[in-house]
Amino acid sequence: MEVVILNGSKQIGKLAADAIGELLRHKPDAVLGLATGSSPLPIYDELAGRHERDGLDFSRAHGFALDEYVGLPAGHPESYREVIRREFTNRVNIAPENVHGPDGTAADIPAACQAYEDSIAAAGGIDLQLLGVGTDGHIGFNEPGSSFASRTRIKSLIEQTRRDNARFFNSLAEVPHHVLTQGLGTIMEARHVILVATGAQKAQAVREFVEGPVAAICPASVLQFHPHATVLLDEAAASALKLADFYRHTYDNKPAWQGL
Ligand code: GLP
Repeated sequence: MEVVILNGSKQIGKLAADAIGELLRHKPDAVLGLATGSSPLPIYDELAGRHERDGLDFSRAHGFALDEYVGLPAGHPESYREVIRREFTNRVNIAPENVHGPDGTAADIPAACQAYEDSIAAAGGIDLQLLGVGTDGHIGFNEPGSSFASRTRIKSLIEQTRRDNARFFNSLAEVPHHVLTQGLGTIMEARHVILVATGAQKAQAVREFVEGPVAAICPASVLQFHPHATVLLDEAAASALKLADFYRHTYDNKPAWQGL
């Protein structure tokens, strides 16, 4: 796991966009794993800017959403399908038919989850998965206790996550209790994972998943087993890390050819 501590969101957005740009240049039909929440927004802004200014080309790329609420009607502005469309895919030239998400409106949820796994496999697997992290250490919507072997499935949200996400709705009551999420096993198969965390409210979760034991109580800690996981933090999110100086030193002295 590589930990990179940066001054702020703008820098995080640029560094992640560099990695995505590089991927698209050597693999124009790359498969991107797309996260929602506020953490990846600086990345989407940067990518939209590079598309606009420099012609960064997504025309052959594919996108797979990480998760989705169950029960929000199609087109609901807070469904993750809509959020991803609004925040990212509508702002670049990715083909709408190449953007996928688990179907939270399906009558047969297990079949929809299996179909989603099949569609990721049919696209050749995810090359680069963007992630945020919840205050309880969840990634995607894999709440504490999720199996490290889990695949796309239905999950119940813990109340803290519903409260954290209530800011996107008119009231807490509107936040669904159920979600579909890529499993931890699904996420672990992405060839490169970039997790972004910013702000002091994430400092504890970051300390636990980066430096604590690998345990299902902290789902993001599974990334300690990932062969290519990058964690991009601002100073506030990094403030509880024991080895922060070591991570800074390592990154400052990293050979330029390595990239992220
Ligand atoms: C939601 C999403 C996660 C996201 C988390 C943190 O629960 N399902 O994918 O990482 O929120 O969101 P934020 O980046 O807004 O803090």
